[in-house]
Amino acid sequence: MPLRSESEHAAVALDVRPEDRPGVTPFQTRVVHTSRFHDSAARHVSGTAAYIDDVREPVGTLHVVPGYARQAAKGRIVGLDLAAVKAFPGVVAVLTAANVPGHNDISPSGFHDDPLLAETEIRFHGQPVFAVVAETREAARRAARLGRVDVEAETPIVTVDQAIASDRPDILPSYAFVRGDAEAAIAAAEPEAVVEGSILIGGQEHFYLEGQISLAVPGEDGEMHVFASTQHPSEVQHLVAHVLGLPNARVTAEVRRMGGAFGGKESQASQWAALAALAAHVTGRPAKVRLDRDDDMAMTGKRHDFRVNYRARIDAEGRLEAVIHDQFARCGHSVDLSIGICDRAMFHADNAYYYPEVAINSRRLKTDTVSNTAFRGFGGPQGVLAAERLMDEIALRTGRDPFDVRLANLYGEGERDETPYGMKVQQNLGREMMLRLAETSEYRARAAAIDAFNANSPFLRKGIAITPVKFGISFTLTHLNQAGALVHVYTDGSVHLNHGGTEMGQGLYVKVAQVVAEVFGISLDMVHITATTTAKVPNTSPTAASSGTDLNGMAALLAAQAIRDRMASHLANVHGGVPPESVVFADDHVVVGNERMTFAAAAKSSHAGKVGLSSTGYYATPDLVWDRSVAKGRPFYYFAWGVSCSEVTVDTLTGETRVDRVDVLHDVGRSLNPAIDIGQIEGGFVQGMGWLTTEELVYDAEGRLRTHAPSTYKIPTATDVPADFRVELYESGGNAVDTVYRSKAVGEPPLMLPISVFSAIGRAVGSLKPGAPVPLDAPATPEAVRRAVKALVDRA
Ligand code: MTE
Ligand code: MOS
Repeated sequence: MPLRSESEHAAVALDVRPEDRPGVTPFQTRVVHTSRFHDSAARHVSGTAAYIDDVREPVGTLHVVPGYARQAAKGRIVGLDLAAVKAFPGVVAVLTAANVPGHNDISPSGFHDDPLLAETEIRFHGQPVFAVVAETREAARRAARLGRVDVEAETPIVTVDQAIASDRPDILPSYAFVRGDAEAAIAAAEPEAVVEGSILIGGQEHFYLEGQISLAVPGEDGEMHVFASTQHPSEVQHLVAHVLGLPNARVTAEVRRMGGAFGGKESQASQWAALAALAAHVTGRPAKVRLDRDDDMAMTGKRHDFRVNYRARIDAEGRLEAVIHDQFARCGHSVDLSIGICDRAMFHADNAYYYPEVAINSRRLKTDTVSNTAFRGFGGPQGVLAAERLMDEIALRTGRDPFDVRLANLYGEGERDETPYGMKVQQNLGREMMLRLAETSEYRARAAAIDAFNANSPFLRKGIAITPVKFGISFTLTHLNQAGALVHVYTDGSVHLNHGGTEMGQGLYVKVAQVVAEVFGISLDMVHITATTTAKVPNTSPTAASSGTDLNGMAALLAAQAIRDRMASHLANVHGGVPPESVVFADDHVVVGNERMTFAAAAKSSHAGKVGLSSTGYYATPDLVWDRSVAKGRPFYYFAWGVSCSEVTVDTLTGETRVDRVDVLHDVGRSLNPAIDIGQIEGGFVQGMGWLTTEELVYDAEGRLRTHAPSTYKIPTATDVPADFRVELYESGGNAVDTVYRSKAVGEPPLMLPISVFSAIGRAVGSLKPGAPVPLDAPATPEAVRRAVKALVDRA
């Protein structure tokens, strides 16, 4: 997408909708709804965007490296020998739980089940037991290897299936969404009306390019300033204070940007911030933790792997009458964010389909592995994948085209529109978008061509699939749906913007800056974007659930409007009492009555008139109700929709796959910034493709992660991007509910679009034995494809 320079923008007059800016005439330049560069784009590519490791280290900075029991994944700690560590040249201190002045607890969920440093037991392989503080990172790394942790080792429970088979109590109570009696409906059905199966869904390593890192700088009177790579600065602040035994007000957490996060820094950045802060507290010197990649991969949680067993009753057209999903999630050793993640998997077990009678059952398994955590989609993708697998099985059973099966089962408008949790599906774009994409991608013709190809190709097989996404936007922990912002206007007309959201590459900062520029009618470069800090906006929610722009954009809008309204009143007053509503802010100018002045002159005049040019803004999403105890309500403010069509070629002899073409139609409401949104769609798609095709986490029987480096864990590369990749934004006329300039969230939903790739691979493999269920688990690595091929062929 071509981007315009600022000056070119100024010359382009775009349409203004009166409802967007009351009282504004339609000749001004728009800042929102236009493609703008990411504010750091030039700095990203020129290497001048400062990440934590680029912040100049204060003189005397020490380096911290965690140490762990190298041999054990589970068991009681019976001895700790750190003499050799302490004696290593350059080592300044070796920290254990005994050094913690406050609480040895970094649990984000209030369950107090995540120690900063293990005290009595090892609960997963790689769990930090001690931390070396040294003059150099190299010294700290070498010394950390010399620590000896003696453990009465026990056999760990590692996989989902091991946990299901064991009699170990789950980490959290089970939970269910129920409507009607699906069990009875299925039990009463004729055998040919029952479809059932199971899918194992692998987890995913975040593989943010900037790993976990924190720099803690001690100040006077117990103050601690922490530069952290975190999606949740407020939680870092609170947990650092909790660990150090300080009031929150003594601690400041700051983050300018992250080099990727993807959910991996929502709760799990706190440990490294707290460790750096503890080292700074004990030594009185600045201290930095920068995890090695291998440690990062072993010590931090990932996407939850799931097993989903599904059973359904269908009618003669392949329409669902009753559905049961039994979801089993590997949570790991502690609770972390698993309640919300497993709930979201349940909320998305329907994806875009109506389940008349339904039971969505969720079990949260405790395993002796790292505590799994947020990852783009937050459990939703696992729920959606199982829903789409069921659609494919129905197609195989009925011999109908999978696309037609999907169409037949979509939520309706005004009927068949209630989710298993009692919320009506509003602004239902599913059918419209599916039909539109089927047309533009020429799905039917290509499907026929593929059938013809497969008939003449014994080993290379092609497949094609269209899958939808419906994703609920809002934190399901309802009180998190709030945000704050702080805006200052200086007397030269430049604007200082701060809010509670964090920038991880997704373009939140530029979008919020666009909103503020739009409100003041000034060009984007007049708005200065500043680092997120708990000292400016307190008690913030994590930047997560794709809600960053919805929440912070609205808070910033309200802050800017408050200042603009004060300026308008003052200027109207000075200019002979014209109505304040008639004052127009546009094109870097303010028009009052007959006079037109620069925005800077208006700011200067306002200041001289003793008008406060600073404001906070606060926003909370309206109309959300969720009663978890009865599993009913409206947990989401709205849904974002997407549809994708993927064509693949599978070599059934080697199991290798190639994605030949992808078409995407995605709903972002009225886009605040189409270039950024398309970037999110493309990036999310490819990341989801990695999850479903190449990224495989392998643990050995001892509970050690064997895929702890890029040599063994394969994320997509530039060459894996589909050669023919067509992404289009759906022109819906805007969000039906009142979001910031009628935009919609975009961060997570696209990750589920490549489920069409997975489905297409299944279809290609299935062509070897038409009508038989395809036992393909995720990810569809060459090995998994070969296993599925073999199972099909052997069954012959
Ligand atoms: N895009 C980039 N480039 N880097 C990231 O780390 N995280 C994703 C998504 N897009 C991420 C990203 C996740 S998990 C979420 S929840 C959203 O961005 C968060 O930002 P938003 O709420 O501003 O969309
Ligand atoms: Mo995103 S998984 O909500 O950080």
